[in-house]
Amino acid sequence: MEKVLLTGGAGFIGSHTLVELLARGYEVAVVDNLCNSCEEAMRRVREISERDFAFYKADIRDRAAMDRIFTENKFDWVIHFAGLKAVGESCKKPLEYYDNNIGGTIVLLETMRAHGVKNIVFSSSATVYGTPEKLPLTEDCRTGGTTNPYGTTKYYLEGILTDLAKAEGDWNVVLLRYFNPVGAHASGRIGEDPKGIPNNLMPYVAQVASGKLKKINVFGNDYPTKDGTGVRDYIHVVDLALGHVAAIEKCREKGVHVYNLGTGVGYSVLDMIHAFEKACGKKLPYEICPRRDGDIAACYANSDKAAKELGWRARFGIEEMCRDQWNWQSKNPNGYNE
Ligand code: NAD
Ligand code: WQD
Repeated sequence: MEKVLLTGGAGFIGSHTLVELLARGYEVAVVDNLCNSCEEAMRRVREISERDFAFYKADIRDRAAMDRIFTENKFDWVIHFAGLKAVGESCKKPLEYYDNNIGGTIVLLETMRAHGVKNIVFSSSATVYGTPEKLPLTEDCRTGGTTNPYGTTKYYLEGILTDLAKAEGDWNVVLLRYFNPVGAHASGRIGEDPKGIPNNLMPYVAQVASGKLKKINVFGNDYPTKDGTGVRDYIHVVDLALGHVAAIEKCREKGVHVYNLGTGVGYSVLDMIHAFEKACGKKLPYEICPRRDGDIAACYANSDKAAKELGWRARFGIEEMCRDQWNWQSKNPNGYNE
């Protein structure tokens, strides 16, 4: 069975992908510096999957540590999740974001090359499309025009990986553009555990439902959308995880492969709040607030390319997303800090 290194594998999307890879018999190892996650997630993944794997607490910018990891293991693939992802923070700390996300990726790629590992799946984002030129977004839509340093790191990294594959013909690069990942593993044992007050809508909504936060702030109700609130393509994190499995199984040709991973369905902020109310059985207080800087009105995917070429489609809908997010939140009101 092939062996896969997950950078950032202790995080939200990484831990769910780990479960799906382990379930399919892959050998895996994780490198994570735990700057936005904790080792308890790894213990729980072992418990869910009843399998063991190597965990390395290290920073991907640490060349010596990375070299050691690649010397100790013979990897076939790297799935590269590691990165900082808070949009607002990236505007305040651009250098830290460029250093971590771009600097870290360069060290990773150099280590991979030195050890002859040339297959990489990269966590990109719908954010690379900037303001969408059309909806739904297809992979050939214009990219760039990102509105914050975080998004710009994703845009630049897509460019760096593409240049590399062009210059050295033996690389196999898969760029997965995630839309808005939500939900949690059905067991309720792993899920998203944001530090401090959540920036993203669904963890915020979940914390209002559990009584940790008072009310939801709805950022704007004057967008040109069906109810005036922002529309996004929310995707269940388990569907997203399965998209990675499909990518390593199907992308066997050298070159660059780009896929949108979304459901193709756009829901508004109010749709999500109301669906969550059904899932948790409570009315959730919300207030209409001014728009948040840098937000766009609507963003959703056309994921036909992934369906056709990877045989992958999102299976979970808004009900399962809210059900599983609530299951995780209600069983772990303080995340991994029991
Ligand atoms: P996350 O923060 O939960 O996971 C990222 C992991 O990377 C964390 O465990 C963190 O500790 C680790 N990490 C960060 N910098 C590191 C470094 N220098 N060395 C080692 N480990 C490091 O985030 P996530 O939501 O699981 O996102 C995973 C990837 O997907 C990220 O690259 C993110 O930018 C991308 N992405 C996320 C979303 C989203 O909304 N969650 C959407 C699109 C793309
Ligand atoms: C969703 C909708 C908000 C919070 C971000 C990144 C993107 C990607 C995914 C990584 C919007 C509204 C939100 C709140 C609200 N990450 N909202 N009240 O902004 O689509 O995408 O995460 O790549 O790059 O930008 O996600 O969950 O923050 O917002 O009304 O408290 O909810 O305005 O319409 P977003 P989000």
